[in-house]
Amino acid sequence: MWRSEQDTDAFARALASEPALRDAFIALEGDLGAGKTTFVRHLLRALGIEGRIKSPTYAVVEPHEAPDGLAIFHFDFYRFNDPREWDDAGFRDIFAGPGLKLAEWPENAAGRTPPADLALKIEAMTDDTRHLTLHAHTPRGRLLLARIGA
Ligand SMILES: Nc1ncnc2c1ncn2[C@@H]1O[C@H](COP(=O)(O)OP(=O)(O)OP(=O)(O)O)[C@@H](O)[C@H]1O
Ligand SMILES: [Mg+2]
Repeated sequence: MWRSEQDTDAFARALASEPALRDAFIALEGDLGAGKTTFVRHLLRALGIEGRIKSPTYAVVEPHEAPDGLAIFHFDFYRFNDPREWDDAGFRDIFAGPGLKLAEWPENAAGRTPPADLALKIEAMTDDTRHLTLHAHTPRGRLLLARIGA
């Protein structure tokens, strides 16, 4: 459970320190306002991204590069509804290539993305805490879960 963004930040830092996070695909599930983008911002900061972090809502994907050269792709499939865009915009290549992929609303791209290494579901409770559910779908995801003790 995340009591506040401080807990979100601690979790993000733990993940960021794992070498297995490089090249991973993390699906971020949860309702509007659950805290998916907030988690991504904390993770990007923990990976050394500085400055303003834009939300990809209109662009579908917002690319970043960490100081150590790690490529990070932050997808938001909330408005994704054009299947042609998958190939035209090069999303297939991104998911097949190196780098960290993070995706909000992955269900809107179901059947196109590979299985997520880690699916992180965030639920906002009435007292404003966040309930987390983590599922690993690949050996890399299982390694990450074991390493962060989740
Ligand atoms: N761990 C947290 N503790 C308390 N408040 C949080 C936490 N995470 C996010 N919030 C608050 O929840 C609100 C919505 O968060 P956010 O934009 O990250 O949601 P989202 O899941 O990305 O939503 P959307 O589906 O619309 O993209 C923000 O105001 C943020 O401050
Ligand atoms: Mg969001």
